[in-house]
Amino acid sequence: MPGDARSMRAGADVGLRARCGPAWGFCENVASTIKIKEPQLKRYEIHLQPGQSSMQCREFVPGELGEHQVAVAIKAVSFNYRDLLASDNTYFVPIAPGRVPCSDGAGEVVAVGSGVSAFKPGDRVATTFFPDWKSGPADAASLSRALGAEIDGALTERFVADQSELIGIPDTLSFAEAATLPCAGVTAWNALHEAGSLKPGQTVLLLGTGGVSIAGLQFAKAAGARVIITSSSDAKLERARQLGADHGINYRRHVDWEQEVMRITEGRGADVILEVGGPGTLERSLRCVRVGGRIAYIGVLTGMAAQANPVMLIPKVASIHGIFVGSRAMFAAMLDAIRCHGIKPVIDREYAFDEVPAAIECMRSATHFGKLVARVGH
Ligand SMILES: NC(=O)c1ccc[n+]([C@@H]2O[C@H](COP(=O)([O-])OP(=O)(O)OC[C@H]3O[C@@H](n4cnc5c(N)ncnc54)[C@H](OP(=O)(O)O)[C@@H]3O)[C@@H](O)[C@H]2O)c1
Repeated sequence: MPGDARSMRAGADVGLRARCGPAWGFCENVASTIKIKEPQLKRYEIHLQPGQSSMQCREFVPGELGEHQVAVAIKAVSFNYRDLLASDNTYFVPIAPGRVPCSDGAGEVVAVGSGVSAFKPGDRVATTFFPDWKSGPADAASLSRALGAEIDGALTERFVADQSELIGIPDTLSFAEAATLPCAGVTAWNALHEAGSLKPGQTVLLLGTGGVSIAGLQFAKAAGARVIITSSSDAKLERARQLGADHGINYRRHVDWEQEVMRITEGRGADVILEVGGPGTLERSLRCVRVGGRIAYIGVLTGMAAQANPVMLIPKVASIHGIFVGSRAMFAAMLDAIRCHGIKPVIDREYAFDEVPAAIECMRSATHFGKLVARVGH
């Protein structure tokens, strides 16, 4: 509640717990009185500026907590391809100037409003991509607000959200590992287990070794599936094999990689395909999906133009299902599987908070394997 003793208003409880230090501002003696300065919290904002990164680090003062709100000291944020698109302002949602980017954060609760029952200070939580998509099928309302696009995201030292918009994270995961999950993890989970109805023994095809595909690899193997993965790089394929991939195809060497998929599956095709490419890859996915198989249409790595002919779906009796991340309930189911199977998300590189523009450029170069993460508030 605004004004409540548990309010996170800057410096409100400094006297009680002597929270004097970099994270909470500092105290200084001035003519025998103690003056308490506001904490110097930082966040990134998107400001398009020619010739330099649009990811600008700015100081800010957080507002008061609402009755049902939770304040989180974000410890780690992971990057998704959409964050690169947002920073270039080529995401399909226009990004308002000053928008705080990124959907995927994890951290520690530092204050709660008077009506909060789900969390207490010290709890470890992650953000949810669509705060209004709790469970069940999506509708327009549940997709109307996404972090880092229509509303401010997680690339901030202090994130405030309604208690229903956060989710507790397992103790087995570091903050950095948990921060990889809200977008890429939930997307892969949704594609395999909701849209894909994956069964043990079925064959999953993954394209490339980015965040969605590597999460998909881990979840598919945990579900007892056979995994075929493509990559531009033999070294990345070897890393994928070490994570359990059964077959790797270098799509640079095998331009017609769908023929390799058909060969490996002895002419049957893949049961579930996580299609993260788009033009140029979707046509090939249509050729190597099995009769009755499912293509989860996820990504735009090769662009947004449509080229594939959907008539190919008829003789395949196959389906293409659009995926837009997933609900909080899917996130919870995925966390259960992560706990049960001891899955550890794959982080390629961790960056300091002031290195965010470098992380975005690494994503542009597509040299990573799995996820890129920034540490926050260290
Ligand atoms: N619909 C949704 O809800 C949703 C959610 C998350 C992501 N996405 C989209 O899904 C796509 C993947 O996201 P991400 O976060 O996993 O991206 P990412 O981590 O940036 O993935 C990049 C990797 O994809 C591979 N790649 C690049 N171009 C490729 C191509 N032409 N064919 C096959 N692989 C290619 C490369 O791996 P190799 O070097 O190994 O080839 C690259 O390292 C993006 O378009 C993103 O916007 C959509």
